[in-house]
Amino acid sequence: MIKYIETNKIFHLQTKNNSYIMIILPSNHLGSLYFGSKVDENTDYENLVLSNKIEVGSQVIYDSIDKSFNLNTSFLELSTFGKGDFREPMCHFRLNDGSRITDFKYKSHKVLARKPSFKGLPEVRAENAETLVITMFDEVNKLTINLYYSVLIDEDIIVRRAVIINDSTNEVMIEKALSMNLDINNKDYCLTTFDGAWIKERQLNTQTINPGIIKIDSKKGVSSSDHNPFIILNTTKTTEETGDCYGFSLVYSGSFEAVVERNPFSMIRVQMGINSFDFFWQLNPNEEFITPEVCLTFSNQGYNKLSQSFHNLINKHIIKPDYLEKERPVLFNNWEATMFDFNQRKLLKLAKKAKNLGIELFVLDDGWFGKRNDDNSSLGDWFVNKKKLPLGINKLAQKINNLGMDFGIWVEPEMVNQDSLLYQEHPDWAIKHPSFNPSLGRNQLILDLSKQEVVDYLYDVLAKLFRENNIKYCKWDMNRNFSDLYSSGFDAKNQGKLIHCYYLGLYKLLERLTNDFPNILFESCASGGNRFDLGMLYYMPQIWTSDNTDAHSRYLIQSGTYFGYSQSVMGNHVSDIPSAQVIRKTPLETRFNISAFGLLGYELDITHLTPYETKVIKKQISYYKANRKLLQFGKLYQLNNPFKSNNFELIVMSEDKSKAILGTFQTLQEPSMAYDVYKLPMLDKNKTYKITKREQYFNLDMFGHLIKHALPIKLNSKGLLFHLLKNRYLFKNEEDTQIVKGDVLVNNGFIPKQRFIGTGYNENIRLMGDFGSRLYLIEEIEL
Ligand code: GLA
Repeated sequence: MIKYIETNKIFHLQTKNNSYIMIILPSNHLGSLYFGSKVDENTDYENLVLSNKIEVGSQVIYDSIDKSFNLNTSFLELSTFGKGDFREPMCHFRLNDGSRITDFKYKSHKVLARKPSFKGLPEVRAENAETLVITMFDEVNKLTINLYYSVLIDEDIIVRRAVIINDSTNEVMIEKALSMNLDINNKDYCLTTFDGAWIKERQLNTQTINPGIIKIDSKKGVSSSDHNPFIILNTTKTTEETGDCYGFSLVYSGSFEAVVERNPFSMIRVQMGINSFDFFWQLNPNEEFITPEVCLTFSNQGYNKLSQSFHNLINKHIIKPDYLEKERPVLFNNWEATMFDFNQRKLLKLAKKAKNLGIELFVLDDGWFGKRNDDNSSLGDWFVNKKKLPLGINKLAQKINNLGMDFGIWVEPEMVNQDSLLYQEHPDWAIKHPSFNPSLGRNQLILDLSKQEVVDYLYDVLAKLFRENNIKYCKWDMNRNFSDLYSSGFDAKNQGKLIHCYYLGLYKLLERLTNDFPNILFESCASGGNRFDLGMLYYMPQIWTSDNTDAHSRYLIQSGTYFGYSQSVMGNHVSDIPSAQVIRKTPLETRFNISAFGLLGYELDITHLTPYETKVIKKQISYYKANRKLLQFGKLYQLNNPFKSNNFELIVMSEDKSKAILGTFQTLQEPSMAYDVYKLPMLDKNKTYKITKREQYFNLDMFGHLIKHALPIKLNSKGLLFHLLKNRYLFKNEEDTQIVKGDVLVNNGFIPKQRFIGTGYNENIRLMGDFGSRLYLIEEIEL
């Protein structure tokens, strides 16, 4: 609902649970009034206004008519520089006469029944969302900023963006054009961000908002694994299930900034948008500049409610509608199995085994094209390497199809190696400066997608590949950050446009390809999660979460990612041990259990599996398939914060609460640990549930010399017999099936079998061990 209350000059936007309220101030600036739990539309709005009744010391008085009014202590929806607001501005301009003063005031507004679509950028798909457009005008400079607010009622999301229009007859240089500005009153808010690096993406990080400016950003040309373009403001008391928090997520994949500022009056300003560092954009008369969208939500029921609002947004309004609740295949990817060292025979051997395990899609990763045998060459040469695959992709795909699996392929179209035919032919297509030797990342350069001819070329080459071969899946990789920013396509004044124009080019390419090849499932990747954002998800409905497949690292990475993104878009693979990223050994069952909360794949040399591993993996895949809908699309709750504890629990639940899967993970086995009780407040207290532990197996290797206590026969743990046995024997761990009333689970919790405490082991003891885990299926039963 969007309501304008003329008497108070108030805009009231309501979602199912929230209200977002603005006011046109007496000065005609647009004020932020309230964003939080729903208030009645007939409320007494005057009680929401925080205004001065007297002049505030040491402020610039906006206008001598009202000495109590200054911009610096006003809560604003749009802020610029020059008239006394000393906080970070949302937009900043260099005008024709060299001045930088702008002052935008309310001019008009309209309420649209539908959400307008601005072609060219990814955007929230919500045609039927009512949208408020407030036109703000700078009378002196003849500049307009239209502020857009779309209301997604059921998802509790407000979508904001700004569009700048030059109504003057002069050019103006935009130096900063963020998508939103929101000023809220401080209630001891903290800032939570999702930071990291390669193989350590989206690690939760909470900091106090002290006076000053906190900025997280990416200057890398990708949204980056350093900081995700998604932030939360929470209080010190917010928990998974209780307390207030705000979430902000940017629909964009390039360099971004998110700014949180606390001024001396403890007002909190939040901003998000395209990074203003190294950005400038000349706007000619009558031209407009469209900023990317930011999605805002508020939850008074803790982080899970906030995350679920974003999960619903992604599933229903970001990814292509064709993929709405469309179950994704269990895939095999050959990268960690072979790297560049493969041929058709080897691939087919892997494929046969994959089929035997129950895998549905075979993905051929890097190394199939040009003369690529390592990462020094051939990016750009998207034709098959006949030495490795003499019969071509087409025949390989056919053979894999004949085995009963779909075929998928890896590409990295945005890149070029200097050692490639493409680069020899078009050295000017790479992003570099004519006078600098370009710096490389993974031995490669980035193609200049701000040039239409490059975009067209890539379309043709990829469309040919997709047309000529039976490809059902494409992993779209991107493995370096931007440097040497310069494009021959722009004059000196406009070089600051490069990265944004690159994205306009990339988005155009992805729009065309994904529309023309609707039967190909695209998975975005950027050295794992270096570009994990709503922008990429608009085109490709899933993303390779991280190159780190170690189970322990994964539960941290996945936990951080679940805060802003649904498991339905997260690629999770089981790989071999020791993990290539951290040289750690974790149980095969745990590698599966954590991967199961998302889109499952296997990425290891399955031709060398032991009989134990083969049998265990088959059981894992059939369990996953039987519960796939729930695991991929169930409502996800995190029960605790693994960044702060030795354990991690999460649950996915069906909408009607009749079915759920609980996952419990532990880092280290400690002596004399606490008794576990998992409180499950999300379940229905009026139902009765049957809880069944997934059948899981130990590898005897875990016990070493202790095996003599666990098995009836005496074995030398260093001997050949033990070696043979451990590769074959499925040692089932405890069975745990219980019937429990919903009110017990909701109020007290689920009590699993007693832990191993060092005094002995039997089938009633839950031995987790280091990096141990369990899955429990929870189903409603009629008594
Ligand atoms: C990146 C990806 C990996 C793999 C390699 C291939 O690192 O993240 O999954 O595809 O490239 O070179």
